[in-house]
Amino acid sequence: MKKIIAIISEELMQAFEAKGYDPQYGIVTLSNRPDLCQYQCNGALSAAKAYKKAPIMIANEVVEVLKESKTFEKIEAIMPGFINISLNSEFLADYLNEMTRAEQFGLEKTGNPKTIVIDYGGPNVAKPLHVGHLRSAVIGESIKRICRYAGHNVIGDVHLGDWGLQMGLIITELKKRKPDLVYFDESYTGEYPEEAPFTISELEEIYPAANEYSKTHPEYKEEAKNATFLLQNGNRGYMALWNHILNVSVTDLKKNYEKLNVSFDLWKKESDAQPYIPDMIQYLKENNYTRISEGALVVDVKEETDTKEIPPCMILKSDGATLYNTTDLATMVERMKLFQPDAITYIVDKRQELYFEQVFRCAKKTKLVDENVKLTFLGFGTMNGKDGKPFKTRDGGVMRLENLINEINDAVFKKMMENREMPEEEAKSISKKVGLAALKYGDLSNQASKDYVFDIDRFISFEGDTGPYILYTIVRIKSIVAKYKESTGKIEITENTILPTNIKSEITLMLQASKFNDVIINAYEDNAPHRICQYIYELANAFNSFYHENKIIAEENKEKQQSWIGLIILIQEILETCIELLGFEAPDRM
Ligand code: ARG
Repeated sequence: MKKIIAIISEELMQAFEAKGYDPQYGIVTLSNRPDLCQYQCNGALSAAKAYKKAPIMIANEVVEVLKESKTFEKIEAIMPGFINISLNSEFLADYLNEMTRAEQFGLEKTGNPKTIVIDYGGPNVAKPLHVGHLRSAVIGESIKRICRYAGHNVIGDVHLGDWGLQMGLIITELKKRKPDLVYFDESYTGEYPEEAPFTISELEEIYPAANEYSKTHPEYKEEAKNATFLLQNGNRGYMALWNHILNVSVTDLKKNYEKLNVSFDLWKKESDAQPYIPDMIQYLKENNYTRISEGALVVDVKEETDTKEIPPCMILKSDGATLYNTTDLATMVERMKLFQPDAITYIVDKRQELYFEQVFRCAKKTKLVDENVKLTFLGFGTMNGKDGKPFKTRDGGVMRLENLINEINDAVFKKMMENREMPEEEAKSISKKVGLAALKYGDLSNQASKDYVFDIDRFISFEGDTGPYILYTIVRIKSIVAKYKESTGKIEITENTILPTNIKSEITLMLQASKFNDVIINAYEDNAPHRICQYIYELANAFNSFYHENKIIAEENKEKQQSWIGLIILIQEILETCIELLGFEAPDRM
């Protein structure tokens, strides 16, 4: 199905052409004066310069052609040369009926599906998930769903951080605490136990402790570096420990992501890319892409057009150790080999922007990644507390994601119990859905690159631009439809259930619904879930105004009533689809 704005544009373009003007002048935009009209075309103003005519004359000519068109209720030329457009209600109703019948409300899946790898989540084993990881998971999950809805082949990869010094630190600390573990016995040749010698809570306490300690104890840090080296070179006991660390961590991570309604197609790890490194380095050297700088192996990536300094991309440190860069490049090599993607999109903290610029340039320049593969860095801003500083616990520590989720769910639960009577069990389960909506909408409604303030009271409010407000609107529609069903015994949606109308609030609602297609494509093209939030907030507002002005259940004109029911079911389905694309869902009541 064509986007509604495209249908309107086409008519205008034809009219411009019919009058001897370049059809490009007929492009239509949403009205910026919704009180006057619904859409507008400013093409006559630009055409005036090219054709040396007064804009209003051109506008008048075009409007004359379209006077009889069944698409428009009103189309008029306004000084100095705007064309103001309002749609014919019959046309609008037809469009919505077609949306109702079509799959995905008429949004056709692309005929040219691309393979897109989305790198998001990015947790590190043995480090607790904290709120910094929240944004990557929440935004990435939504973008994955949007790309899929548009018809692309999407592979979501968690890209687990499981390599490097952090592993050596954990092993060193374990050795200090439990020196008798069989993993540290060099002469041991038997099997290692299946059971891990630590729990996730221990593990999460071990890493920060080791990290802190290493900062003030150089000999300890040396030992950790050495342990890392031994692990990377296949020390049996360390490998076995690493495996335990990985398993315990991944089990815990999966549990956490499940709570967030986030799931990955791939649980690839930084370590999976390591086997690609030796060949990659050889290739880079052989093709003269590298040079030695102060002992390190680097690739120059600066370009003449740069206005800021872009340092070289370091591949090997002077002591021969690999870096974050090296792993990311090797991961690209692996992805190219395994999936031949058309695009790779990284959803990472925007503070890593320069780093990714270097890595991307290096990958393209050295042809590790084909020229036509689109590499995108989607950097997100920080979630701040009300003090404008990165969000912390009350005592100033790093907030664990798990605790944040519990905090928001509890707040919703308390609020629900205050407001209405509901069995506690039910309220508990509903508050989880509402809490998740509050958290995710609170995040996604901001443009990803911007910082935002985590404001729990605002996020859980049932009014305003919030997740719970959207859910509340869906629940409200569900209950109206249920009541209607109770009184009539059935719901009949026919080919043309939705009828033309002259009720203003209904037209506004219909107009908003008709934009679905446009909004989703836009959100896909710009990797911008916040557009969907904006859209459903306005859609929910339009519904609620309509609902307050019209008594749906009491309506006596049965045809009209049925049309309304058809319309609000469509609204419900659109809202439900949109929140699914954002990554949360609505309860049946709240
Ligand atoms: N683990 C990293 C971190 O916590 C994020 C990984 C992002 N993805 C990537 N391909 N580098 O900072």
